[in-house]
Amino acid sequence: MGRVAGKIAIVTGAASGMGEATARLLAREGAAVVVGDLQAEKGRLVAEAIAAAGGRSLYVAHDVTSEKGWQATIATTLDTFGGLHILVNNAGVGAPFGSVEQLGLDDWRKVMSVNMEGVFLGTKYGIEAMRKTGQGGSIVNFSSTMGIVGSPSTAAYVASKGGVKLFTKSAALHCAKERYGIRVNSVCPGWIRTPMSSGALDKLSGSGEGNKAIELTPLGRVGEPDDVAYGVLYLASDEASFVTGTELVIDGGYTAQ
Ligand SMILES: NC(=O)c1ccc[n+]([C@@H]2O[C@H](COP(=O)([O-])OP(=O)(O)OC[C@H]3O[C@@H](n4cnc5c(N)ncnc54)[C@H](O)[C@@H]3O)[C@@H](O)[C@H]2O)c1
Repeated sequence: MGRVAGKIAIVTGAASGMGEATARLLAREGAAVVVGDLQAEKGRLVAEAIAAAGGRSLYVAHDVTSEKGWQATIATTLDTFGGLHILVNNAGVGAPFGSVEQLGLDDWRKVMSVNMEGVFLGTKYGIEAMRKTGQGGSIVNFSSTMGIVGSPSTAAYVASKGGVKLFTKSAALHCAKERYGIRVNSVCPGWIRTPMSSGALDKLSGSGEGNKAIELTPLGRVGEPDDVAYGVLYLASDEASFVTGTELVIDGGYTAQ
C-alpha cells in the first residue's frame, strides 16, 4: 500500500520543478493526481509519464490566478476521479524581482496575483471540494525561506511568501474550528535547483569563488525537488493527521543560522 493510496490530489504548477516532483511522488505512493499548469506540453508529459508508470493522472490547463479556472479544475477533478483529498498549491513566480524602490505597482501585483491570490483561491475552492467529498483532506501551500527572512532585492516575493505562511495558519484554524477534518500547512523550501532558481544559482556560482547558495547552506549543498516533495508527501498523508497550521522548513539548515 502506498502512503497516499486511494487519495485524489491536485498539484498546481506541476509541469516543472517541485510541483512535478510532488505530482510524480504522490502518484508513486498511490494517489490519483491532477497535474495543473499553464505549460500544456510539459504538463501533459508529466501526466503521461505518471500513467505510463501505472499511476492515474490527468493534465488540466489551469491558471491559478483565475477564479473560473479554479472552479473548472475542481469540477474536472470531481467528475474524473470522484473527489478531492489533497491539494498542493505549488504554482509560483519569482519575477519581477526588485527592491521596494525598484518595483512598480504592476510588478507587485503580478507576483501577488500568482503567489498569494492563487493560493487563496485554491485553498477556498479546495476546502469546498473536500467538504463535498466528505472524507477530510490536506492542503499544502508553498511558502519559502523567503517567507521567514527578508531579502532586499525580492520585495514582492518575500511579502507573498510571508503572506502564504500566515494565511495558511488562518485557514488551518478555521478548518479545525469547524471540525472539517481538513488540515492546512505550508512548506518553506530553501535553495532548490529548479528552472525557477537555476538562473540565480548559476549567477551565485558564476564568479568562480564557489557557490554562495551552497556556502550559506549548512548541509553544504543545494536541495533537489524530491527533498521538498517528500515533505509534501508527509503533510499530505495520514501520517500527519495531528499536524495543521504549521510550516515545514526544508532548507538544509539555512534559516537555523
Ligand atoms: N526553487 C527554489 O529555490 C524555491 C525556493 C522556495 C520556494 N519556492 C517556491 O516553490 C514553488 C515551485 O517553484 P519551482 O522552483 O519548482 O519553480 P518552477 O518555475 O520550476 O515551477 C513553477 C511552475 O508553476 C507554473 N506556474 C506559474 N504561474 C502559474 C499560474 N498562474 N498558474 C498555473 N501554473 C503556474 C509554471 O508554469 C511552472 O511549471 C513556487 O511557489 C516557488 O515560489 C521555490
